[in-house]
Amino acid sequence: EAPADRPALLLAWYDRHRRRLPWRAAAGERADPYRVWLSEIMLQQTTVKAVGPYFEKFTSRWPDVSALGRASLDDVLRMWAGLGYYSRARNLHACAVAVLNDHGGIFPDTEDGLRALPGIGPYTAAAIAAIAFDRRTMPVDGNIERVVTRLYAIGEPLPQSKPRIQQMAATLLGPSRAGDEKSRAGDEKSRAGDSAQALMDLGATICTPKKPACSLCPLNEDCAGRARGDQETFPRKAPK
Ligand code: ADE
Repeated sequence: EAPADRPALLLAWYDRHRRRLPWRAAAGERADPYRVWLSEIMLQQTTVKAVGPYFEKFTSRWPDVSALGRASLDDVLRMWAGLGYYSRARNLHACAVAVLNDHGGIFPDTEDGLRALPGIGPYTAAAIAAIAFDRRTMPVDGNIERVVTRLYAIGEPLPQSKPRIQQMAATLLGPSRAGDEKSRAGDEKSRAGDSAQALMDLGATICTPKKPACSLCPLNEDCAGRARGDQETFPRKAPK
């Protein structure tokens, strides 16, 4: 029997079942880097549900990064009120100012370029590079850690298992797209953003912390955790 093509199964599932979220582009359309960046910053410590109205308020008032960069920090902080973790709002404003003043209002389109901006760490850089620019890189958040540790029954506890999780998560990226010459890590193009968001959605809707709905999962046939019957015990965590 041919081995399962997990990346293809995942993308096919995403095409049918992806969540309609305000910052996501229509199928096949390139997402707006500004909206992807704004959503990723807001989602760092806040749920998808709580972020929704704030995302709408921000994008109505400041439709692009240059508009946000010209806003006063006070206005941004006032609009952020209620979302918490206000350093995110300060960095958000600083990042918009940097994109406006240092990059002509255009977001850098590589992980390294994104990493150099205020408030953008490794996870967020990978998320924007993948989702907005189709860079072949996998941002690993808590949902993706759960899906991947179950799929491969990774018994090593967090946080030690992070490099292994990152490595296995990257195997779920689809193939690179032909016609791209660049070879630097993350520079190859693929449907990386869809692969990442597919894992996020799978973790949020099916591979949930308690009582995962394995019968609905596109990867259930070769999930090591499910085969063992102890999928809910992943990810393991080192005792505090
Ligand atoms: N959490 C963080 N980024 C997300 C995204 N792009 N879609 C859904 N949930 C997310």
